[in-house]
Amino acid sequence: MKKRILSGMRPTGKLHLGHLVGALANWTKLQGEYECFFMVADWHALMSEYENPCSLKANTLDNIIDWLSCGIDPEKSTIFIQSQVPEHLELYFILSLITPLGLLERCPTYKEQLREVTNRDLSTYAFLGYPVLQAADILLYKADAVPVGEDQLPHLELTRQIVRKFNHLYKADCFPEPKALLTEAPRLLGLDGRKMSKSYNNYIGLSEEPEDIRKKVQNMITDPLRIRLSDPGHPHKCNVFNYYSIFFPEMKQEGQERCSKSSIGCTTCKKELADKIINLLAPIREKRKALLKDKKLIQDIISAGSLKASGLAKKTIHEVKGLLKL
Ligand code: TRP
Repeated sequence: MKKRILSGMRPTGKLHLGHLVGALANWTKLQGEYECFFMVADWHALMSEYENPCSLKANTLDNIIDWLSCGIDPEKSTIFIQSQVPEHLELYFILSLITPLGLLERCPTYKEQLREVTNRDLSTYAFLGYPVLQAADILLYKADAVPVGEDQLPHLELTRQIVRKFNHLYKADCFPEPKALLTEAPRLLGLDGRKMSKSYNNYIGLSEEPEDIRKKVQNMITDPLRIRLSDPGHPHKCNVFNYYSIFFPEMKQEGQERCSKSSIGCTTCKKELADKIINLLAPIREKRKALLKDKKLIQDIISAGSLKASGLAKKTIHEVKGLLKL
């Protein structure tokens, strides 16, 4: 029996290179080894986008198309949308019964978001419970492991605390304690050297047009100490070199030498990088184009995924209700 994993993504915008190295490359790899559930966390997105939910549905579809284009295979993995499986909310409520308020208030991600996010109001009842819904997502399928980035570790720890309390209170071993499968993603900065983020508009989208990719790469900041072509560059201080090392590790050695020996100028180096990224994304773009022509196929994949997820979800809720004497 393969172990089961579940992971999710909030549909808050277009996917970019950061999602590719941070999650999708890893998800694709895990498909062979685990029974995989990949979920669009639209309820989670709504917790921050509730004032302006117009693009959630389009983003949900767009993200799933990107997943498929990047190699998530619906024959191997269950792809579904959180809001299409109502049991998520049912378990979310049940878990909220036993989740201590203090754990949520002290959660570092919660405190950070309240501090950092200024363009919307996150001081809501639902947002405090964000990790409880995430715990419900994971436990509904009794996932053994959850592939996540480091930022999500507090949510996994909270999930495990909820599991221990639930199993103890109801004298059951209903839920396994899910492990984090830490994605060892290299640190990919945004094009401007800041954290890659939708709100900074400093990313390359997976479905971006080649011309736009060229323009964006050409605007990347290189080693500020290298003014003339003959100045030796410092590749380790250059974000362009960082992109080479992450996406084209086979070029790392050569890239480093030609920069520090000033045998290539930054403009040429960036032009080559843009071409390579365009090539890298070409098969994804092609697959995406083909999928866009077959809306029915995508709908079928989503319906089949929701159906499969629902089957498991219903079983868990039945079991949990029994334990609660409902
Ligand atoms: N909170 C996760 C994020 O922002 C998204 C998410 C929702 C998730 N439910 C999940 C991730 C369940 C893993 C498992 O990235």
